[in-house]
Amino acid sequence: MLDDSRYLCRLGVNVDHVATLRQNRGTMYPDPVAAALEAEAAGAHQITVHLREDRRHIQERDLELLRRSVQTAVNLEMAAPAEMIRFACRIRPDQVTLVPERRQELTTEGGLDAAGQKKSLGAAVRRLMKSNITVSLFIDPDPRQIEAATDIGAYAVELHTGEYANARTRRQAVREFDRLAAAAREAQTSGLRVFAGHGLHYRNTRPVAELTEIEELNIGHSIVARAVFVGMRRAVREMLDTIRRTEPPTPLPPFPPTYRPAA
Ligand code: PXP
Repeated sequence: MLDDSRYLCRLGVNVDHVATLRQNRGTMYPDPVAAALEAEAAGAHQITVHLREDRRHIQERDLELLRRSVQTAVNLEMAAPAEMIRFACRIRPDQVTLVPERRQELTTEGGLDAAGQKKSLGAAVRRLMKSNITVSLFIDPDPRQIEAATDIGAYAVELHTGEYANARTRRQAVREFDRLAAAAREAQTSGLRVFAGHGLHYRNTRPVAELTEIEELNIGHSIVARAVFVGMRRAVREMLDTIRRTEPPTPLPPFPPTYRPAA
């Protein structure tokens, strides 16, 4: 996967909510595939989509087209029933993020219970990895879940940032951030790659990106919401600006070179 040293981590842009708008009216527009290409043109490192069981936003057709048009990487978020695993093995996204799914939820409302489903998740992970797909497990920043993800043999965990993002008080935000930081350290020490996402927006993303263990953020709702006003490219660029490294660039060699008279 792309390594871009201008940023603290990779940015995966989730385009589900473009599809939500389309599905609301049953029209052909706006097309999440077009949004994905705009996001890539703005510098996104990955396109993320969630294929839900009820197909409320992203459709199978979108994934087939994304697979053929996205030049960076496709990250497919999905639950782990057998038919979804078969679908992923046919489409072959670069990465699958396994998430829990409850029909009535507004969005993914918590991490996977990896500790309680080690056997079934382990089988799903092995099947996906056999098809050369990187597998990440979306989990709460909880030591029990990290230990289970390690035992299962996942490549990565995506830490659920929802509790941090939805904190109502500064104290609560600090407490949730500390949990994230500790989980990121623990996951990396256990040999897992560490990603994060959910509920991140233009004002709460930077501290998460600054956690050195975190290599990838997946962000959707806030970017698509901003795109309504400024367009997709600018919305993605603004998010990239929030995760840009701030160290001064390496100084250029002196110019013009020091004049040395001929001996
Ligand atoms: N990561 C995961 C695993 C998700 O399920 C979602 C929502 O689909 C996101 C990241 C993006 O969350 P948001 O839309 O709140 O930025």
